[in-house]
Amino acid sequence: MIMTTMATTNASFSPFPFDELLEWHAGNRRDHLPWRDFTGRKQCDLAYRTWVSEIFLQQTQAERVIPYYKQVIAAYPSVEKLATASYEEFFGLYQWLGYYSRARNMLRTAEAVTRQYGGLFPDNTVALRALPGVGAYTAEAIRAFAYDLPTLAMDTNLVRIFSRYYFGAKTPSLPRTIEKTLLEQMQSENRSWRAINAALMDLGAATTGRLMIDFDRYPLPGCRFAMTAGSLEPVPERKKKIFPRKDAVRIIVLHENHVRYFSSRQDRYEPFFLEPSECEIRPAMQEYFFQNYGLSISVRPVRWHGYRDGTPHMLANAQPQTGSADLRPYPRSDHAAWESSFFTSCDRE
Ligand code: ADE
Repeated sequence: MIMTTMATTNASFSPFPFDELLEWHAGNRRDHLPWRDFTGRKQCDLAYRTWVSEIFLQQTQAERVIPYYKQVIAAYPSVEKLATASYEEFFGLYQWLGYYSRARNMLRTAEAVTRQYGGLFPDNTVALRALPGVGAYTAEAIRAFAYDLPTLAMDTNLVRIFSRYYFGAKTPSLPRTIEKTLLEQMQSENRSWRAINAALMDLGAATTGRLMIDFDRYPLPGCRFAMTAGSLEPVPERKKKIFPRKDAVRIIVLHENHVRYFSSRQDRYEPFFLEPSECEIRPAMQEYFFQNYGLSISVRPVRWHGYRDGTPHMLANAQPQTGSADLRPYPRSDHAAWESSFFTSCDRE
């Protein structure tokens, strides 16, 4: 999810409301984050500081990073200075993070930037990604924050924001069409992409969890159905449906090895059906087989649940344990035929 190349398709989604985002951000800026202090800094310092902060911010909350970031910048104010540090020296400051490989990669990158690029981090994705420990997110964060280029450092928060905006729902990934829409918009709008990325990150931090599920309080207006006509239907918010176990007809497939047993109530192969009850499926089944057949059985976890003609059903396998009963055995193929006709007659969800 890297926003670096020119888009070529006609994406049919509405532009993202970056103006509203910036309006919201004006009152919600996290200016106390020390890596956001860009004023009067040389380009090489900006890039170095952005890189240090982004490495530290991987998997660590911003507030926790602050004192360590300050410590490292005070001890190593430039990438050249860091390049001269020994691993033991640097790791002494860094060990709170507990990631040995990250510290090693940082020293290797500091050396590479000093040697190959004269102390100035490159501003293109390919060269940045070639540096040890610099992944897709970090590369775009450096391009956005240090160089103010039209790109988005897509972390999970940003994916959440865009999927919420375009689909009104949380989706684990963004469709390519949305990425293309954003990319086209970024190419055509003259903005500070540093400011946009910071605003998105602050919005993400402000709306994690609690607020993200509260549409009415979500800071961006019209976020729910912002798509233009002719594009995809919005994904409705999924309400988790709780299956009514107590109201479900219970189906039990009693078997031993490859043999399925017949329910004596039927004149052809059918598994056992039990009425819904307040009692959970396992004890209800065990009670039924004990009372009616003198059998004690072991019941497997529910294998399937769903609806048939709007009535909930659950299906579980069981095996006889002790006792003997006059049960008619049927071959597996009869059961397979029953299952196939049963499932085709179930309601599609
Ligand atoms: N500012 C720049 N990068 C950031 C990040 N990864 N998290 C929070 N704020 C940031």
